[in-house]
Amino acid sequence: MNITYYGHSCFEVDLDGIKLIFDPFITPNPHASGIDVSAIRADYILLSHGHEDHLADVETIFKNSNCSIISTFEIVSWFQSKGLENGHPMNHGGKWSFDFGDVKMVSAIHSSSMPDGSYGGNPAGFVITAGNTRFYYAGDTALTYDMKLIPENGKIDFAFLPVGDNFTMGIEDAAKAASFIEANKVVAMHFDTFPYIEIDKNQAREVFEENQIELILPEIGETIEI
Ligand code: NI
Ligand code: MN
Repeated sequence: MNITYYGHSCFEVDLDGIKLIFDPFITPNPHASGIDVSAIRADYILLSHGHEDHLADVETIFKNSNCSIISTFEIVSWFQSKGLENGHPMNHGGKWSFDFGDVKMVSAIHSSSMPDGSYGGNPAGFVITAGNTRFYYAGDTALTYDMKLIPENGKIDFAFLPVGDNFTMGIEDAAKAASFIEANKVVAMHFDTFPYIEIDKNQAREVFEENQIELILPEIGETIEI
């Protein structure tokens, strides 16, 4: 599957032509000025929580696409109240089969207020099973023992994990998270966008190497094949 990084925690995952966009935050990200948001099309926009740095470009992408928002009940309802009607509400522990595969909403330890201060439900992660591949998109989260439940439903091939520290897990906890979910490949996210979350990439590589986990530190605009 092809994965394109749009910076911060935003990825496009192309599943045999069906495009999932996770947590779009492109226009306000000075490091992502090379990305043309108006050219991005989605079939589904998945949102882990309500913070601005995860949904700044939802409206633009939604309006340019014939797509649906998959998120918590509260976030889907919030966008519906703004006229972005097409959405699929979920809540933690729930699973749904879509045309591209199954999505299970899982816990995240974080917070989730909407940009206008309204309640965004609880923050979430997603476990996606598409064909023979299963991956975990953690959203913004601390390390939590709940992650040990994730591989009990089947092997995780790779995971998108935050590594930037301060607001989420840092590098060492992300390596531990990879071992909790029994994944040996991690795509890093939520790093370097702001001064609070700048990381030492060499240190990150070392920590993951010591734990024998492959770490992918994607470049903005880069497409990787997994
Ligand atoms: Ni957040
Ligand atoms: Mn965030």
